[in-house]
Amino acid sequence: MIRHLETGLLDTPFEPYRIKMVERIPVTRPKERLQVLKEARFNLFKVPSEFVTIDLLTDSGTAAMSDAQWSAMLRGDEAYAGSRSFKRFESAIRTLTGFEHVMPTHQGRAAEHILFGLLAKPGDVVPNNCHFDTTRANLESLGAIAVDCVGNCAYLPGRDCAFKGNVDLGRLERAIEGVEVPFALVTVTNNTGGGQPVSLRNLRSVSRLLKARGIPLFLDACRFAENAWFIRQREEPGQSVRDIAAEMFALADGCLMSAKKDGLANIGGFFACRDAGLAGRFKQKMVLTEGFPDYGGLAGRDLEAIAVGIHEAVEESFLEHRIGQVRHLAGRLQEHGIPIVHPPGGHAVFIDAAAFLPQVPASEFPGQALACALYLDGGIRSCEIGSLMFPRQGESPKLELVRLAIPSRVYTVSHLDYVAECAARVFHRREDLRGFRLTNDPPCLRHFTAELAAAH
Ligand code: F0G
Repeated sequence: MIRHLETGLLDTPFEPYRIKMVERIPVTRPKERLQVLKEARFNLFKVPSEFVTIDLLTDSGTAAMSDAQWSAMLRGDEAYAGSRSFKRFESAIRTLTGFEHVMPTHQGRAAEHILFGLLAKPGDVVPNNCHFDTTRANLESLGAIAVDCVGNCAYLPGRDCAFKGNVDLGRLERAIEGVEVPFALVTVTNNTGGGQPVSLRNLRSVSRLLKARGIPLFLDACRFAENAWFIRQREEPGQSVRDIAAEMFALADGCLMSAKKDGLANIGGFFACRDAGLAGRFKQKMVLTEGFPDYGGLAGRDLEAIAVGIHEAVEESFLEHRIGQVRHLAGRLQEHGIPIVHPPGGHAVFIDAAAFLPQVPASEFPGQALACALYLDGGIRSCEIGSLMFPRQGESPKLELVRLAIPSRVYTVSHLDYVAECAARVFHRREDLRGFRLTNDPPCLRHFTAELAAAH
């Protein structure tokens, strides 16, 4: 086992835990699923979870917590101010990130909303490798321009590169030339482009470039531990994940974090930074919407769960298993010839829906057609990341993807094999699948509430 951990060559993703409590999985019939999908207007966000057999909609807030987290929750100090739980939370994050000022929020997007509101104004440009839906929407709602600067290989699903999340430095320089840039972001790992990592070398170059122009850099750090694991595998084999993570944070001025991912918590987030002035302004503003700076919209027990979870997330046995699961599912899908984004990322396998369903044009949402087919076949809930989620992506080429996000420590290898079996069945009858049209097209973050019907 130790040898495997060092080489990262474990074929079966050995679960480095045993199961102490179980939750029944709903099993449904095809007819029932069709009815459910019709009632949900072919939007999987509207499907009640009691009709979902394997839920791969997101890895966000869906992790199984450890016994250490649950027991820490009992220590939750629910004092409105000066809570001991806040102190433990603050200290856990300071230790990991090196950022002095730590402000909890109820989730990642709340931190985005507050920070962007403080720093961005209409017409400002904010570059990123790729903005995720909430970062883009929070910027655009302020009239700012969200620009993706990821390298070209991110747009080639079949191309195998080690760090597909890397920022293209030329693209970044062009994006910030002659315009107001209040700050820049780098998302680790790059969720939109397949959960792909950013190398330390690239982060160093981005940091240097921005520093020379006086532009602060914030990491969108929700999957920082997975990113650090890939760096260890592919770039810095001699370093620990913890040290690599520390170096990633050291290159930035602060970070936004959804603790629902690599915090291994079911709720929570934070903003952390070095600048006392910015932290002060953040705290002023957060009182209006999140709450007092010592709890930020969370209960003391939530702060405790994050304080423990964020350290579990950098344990190498955990990461070996987590990313091993993604690799395992990717391998199974490939055995059946299913086109996926290469190499598989940190939290999810992304199916290339455009290649899977070449007969469905982007205007008819091939990703959504595939996601609905997976649900109908086996009660598997996945997430479209394509033209439905991103009606606008600026100048960037569009990818039509379906994300199979694996919640941390929730499913076993046999669940993943079941998913691959269903996907293979859908692949064999792919020529029968048809696209969708929108019958309700909400103006903002439309994929959450959109309604669809068969295109023909
Ligand atoms: N940034 C990235 C890269 C994300 O993936 C998410 C959430 C957020 C910010 C916002 O965090 O949900 O805590 O407000 N992504 C989830 C997902 C929803 O399914 O990938 P949040």
